[in-house]
Formats: sequence, structure tokens, C-alpha cells
Amino acid sequence: MKLLPGHLDRKDQEALLDEIRAIVKQAPLFTPSMPRTGQPFSVRMSNCGPLGWVSDKTGYRYQATHPATNKPWPALPQRLLQLWHDLANYDDEPQACLINHYHSDAKMGLHVDGDEEDFTAPIFSLSLGDDARFRLGGARRNDPTKSFMLRSGDILLLNGSDRKAYHGIDRIYPGTSTLLKAPGRINLTMRRVTKPYTNGMKD
Ligand code: SIN
Ligand code: FE2
Repeated sequence: MKLLPGHLDRKDQEALLDEIRAIVKQAPLFTPSMPRTGQPFSVRMSNCGPLGWVSDKTGYRYQATHPATNKPWPALPQRLLQLWHDLANYDDEPQACLINHYHSDAKMGLHVDGDEEDFTAPIFSLSLGDDARFRLGGARRNDPTKSFMLRSGDILLLNGSDRKAYHGIDRIYPGTSTLLKAPGRINLTMRRVTKPYTNGMKD
């Protein structure tokens, strides 16, 4: 992994947040639910880019449209594409940017990001708003873990052997940032979904 603390200054965070607000107006936050059990996530989600990650009773998947509006996801902002080009060390474009919104009590259990075809691309994470405690383990669920804080403006790349490592968010520290209007946190993760140069089409 690679952690870039405070990579975005306050001005850049505000500009990006404005773009995310516009995206969420077009593609409203929805509450995903666990496959099979239908148990709702505490995190609300939306996406931008050609594909978006969704979860419901039938399973996890990437799809080209919003599950409630059935409209295509809004485009990935140029600002995010540029950060990917500068930092991801990967030749092709990201195809999905998952927008996670955490309220003060929300968390995310340990999981692997495993619905992509190409694990040579990193998971590119950018945090906005309140501090969060991120937990990173290994390839197996019961491998030892370590934890560290993710703060507003931080970028985290999960690459190499950490690309398939278990990770999650233990908790949010409400009121630690003044960026958002209300306590909470937004995390953006850009992902390459299909193998390079295939543009999402299967042959
Ligand atoms: C995720 O694993 O999808 C989100 C991680 C985070 O919120 O930092
Ligand atoms: Fe994840």
C-alpha cells in the first residue's frame, strides 16, 4: 500500500466536494444491502464513471446504471482522472468510482475488493471529511491486521500484495473535520474493473 497524507489541500478538497455534490444530485446515494440476508449497509453509496459497484439481495456486481433511477452513472470528474494518471502507476483509465458516505456511526466490515477482473490496477482511495480508522489485514480473513487513520485529503493506494488484502473502516471520529456541512465522511475509491484496453466489452 501507499499512503499519501494530506495529498489534497483544503481548496482542492472543496473543489472536489462540489463536484461530488453535483454527481450525487444526478445519482442519489442509495442504501446497499448484503447479498442473501438483505441486511442494509450502514454506509450509503453512489458511483461515477462508466461502471458502478452495487450490492443487493442478488449479489455484488458492477453495472452501468444507477439501481434506483436506471440512468447511466455521471462521468468521472477530470480532477479524479488526473490523480489516477499521476499516482496509480497503471496505463489505462479507471472505470468506476464508488462514493461511500459514512454518517457518524457508520462503519465497514473487513472485506476484499474482489469483483474486478484486473488486480494489477490499484484500488485508489481518497478521503473527505471526518477522520476514520482504517484497518488492513492480509489475504485471509484471520490474518493479523494493523490500523491507521485516514484524514480529509489523504490518498491511499492498495496495490501489490495489499490489492487483495482484507480491509475495512472501524469507526468515524465525528467533528474532526470542518469540510462537510454535517458530521460524517466521504470516501471515493476508483477502480479498474475489466482487463486493460477492452473498454468493458467481453469478446
Ligand atoms: C472501501 O473499502 O470500499 C472503503 C474504504 C474507506 O472508506 O476508506
Ligand atoms: Fe473496499
